[in-house]
Amino acid sequence: MMGAHSVISFLLLAAVLLLSEEVTAFQSSLVGSAFTSIRSSSSSSSSQVVTSLYSSLDADPLGPGSSRNSASSPKMKKKDLRSLQRFLEVECWRSPNIRNLDRTLLAVADACKQINRIVQRAQTDDLYGAAIDPLTGEIAEENVQGEVQQQLDVLCNTIMLRAFCGASNNVVCAVASEEEPLPRTCADVMGYDNMIQSGEYVAVFDPIDGSKNIDASLPVGTVFGIYRSPEGSSAGIDGVNLDSFLQRGTKMVAAGYCLYSATTVLVLTLGSGVHIFTLDPDKQQFLQTHPNVRIPDVGSLYSFNEANYREFSEPVQKFLTNMKQAGALGGKKVSSRYVGALVADVHNILINGGIYGYPATRDNVNGKLRLLYESAPMAMIMEQAGGAGSTGHGRILDVLPPQPKKNKGGDKSDAASDEEAGKGIHVRVPTYLGSVENVYELEQCFRYYGEEEDNN
Ligand code: F6P
Repeated sequence: MMGAHSVISFLLLAAVLLLSEEVTAFQSSLVGSAFTSIRSSSSSSSSQVVTSLYSSLDADPLGPGSSRNSASSPKMKKKDLRSLQRFLEVECWRSPNIRNLDRTLLAVADACKQINRIVQRAQTDDLYGAAIDPLTGEIAEENVQGEVQQQLDVLCNTIMLRAFCGASNNVVCAVASEEEPLPRTCADVMGYDNMIQSGEYVAVFDPIDGSKNIDASLPVGTVFGIYRSPEGSSAGIDGVNLDSFLQRGTKMVAAGYCLYSATTVLVLTLGSGVHIFTLDPDKQQFLQTHPNVRIPDVGSLYSFNEANYREFSEPVQKFLTNMKQAGALGGKKVSSRYVGALVADVHNILINGGIYGYPATRDNVNGKLRLLYESAPMAMIMEQAGGAGSTGHGRILDVLPPQPKKNKGGDKSDAASDEEAGKGIHVRVPTYLGSVENVYELEQCFRYYGEEEDNN
């Protein structure tokens, strides 16, 4: 199965890389032709208009020698913004806990840029639809979530796998993805049969969360977390050390998400605050636009899929009713916002305050969100921004993924079965994220109305 996926991924990736080059050429020609008429105008007023229009841009569309490049040009605001690269170099140098991770994180940022481009081109380049196995001509198999993999899912998964495993200085040794049933060693990902697997970290990720939103041109995102491998942990399936993945979220050393929306932003924590980097669309560079982001202590937004209200447990229903009855919170009118893409909804809460929730429902008794690569990274970000992440009964970061039952006998006598290993990796958890006051209130509702929700 993996072989067929690799072929699909490779073909899709090649197509997109070709497209990217075309896009760049097209964009340059567009910028060139759009400004031919302006250049040919000799009036000083038009050149002033252009100068002020582009005073905030680093890339001067008029090229070298234009009036904007003279010593009298207005100071460009962007020059004050720190690049992601510089930020990572300094942060990874000063903290021993994340030393050597800078190259990996830069590779992940590059992957986000590629995914951003793919998302933007999905409609024009027909990247929709189920992935087709080129060997059989048939629709690809269902993924571990029971959904037929889409071309976009396969493509973005490949890009993230390569970012963590290929573009770094081998500090990541294994990866687990929403799109893969089991974790894989980086040697396997990169096709190095005889490589001795080293590396102190493992990474978990959801390459493209909320991908169904793309048909309607709505936001989507990528989520990831990085853990340090515990020392002396035992070997597991196909060389993957499961203990490295089945850790509490408190053991994460870094977490982040990329939101592809009106702007493309990379939100990152390395364990000391949360920082937002916005993609400069001209330079294709992430710039630190929001250092040390703090979520408001209380917020007026709630972000739940209220269509499921009747399936929510009593504490959640009471909480939502109380919130609505409050009328206003933190000086603002209570309001509901729900995009249906975790990254977009959580980002809104991070910036404006309030609470995001995906509670248990009849169909999903532990909610819908996956602990490892959705809830835990988001909880780390929230906590690092001064907010909270809860299951309704306690910290998300304290939840230990279920440990697999070991096989008895057979070749892999001390390892778990594939099914058991997959359970731990893809376990779901009820998830509430947001302002500390709002999440506290939610937990109080669980305490007061008492219904057990977390069936882990
Ligand atoms: O990964 C699950 C997801 O796609 C999230 O991005 C999103 O928040 C959620 O599902 C939406 O689920 P629903 O459509 O049930 O509200």
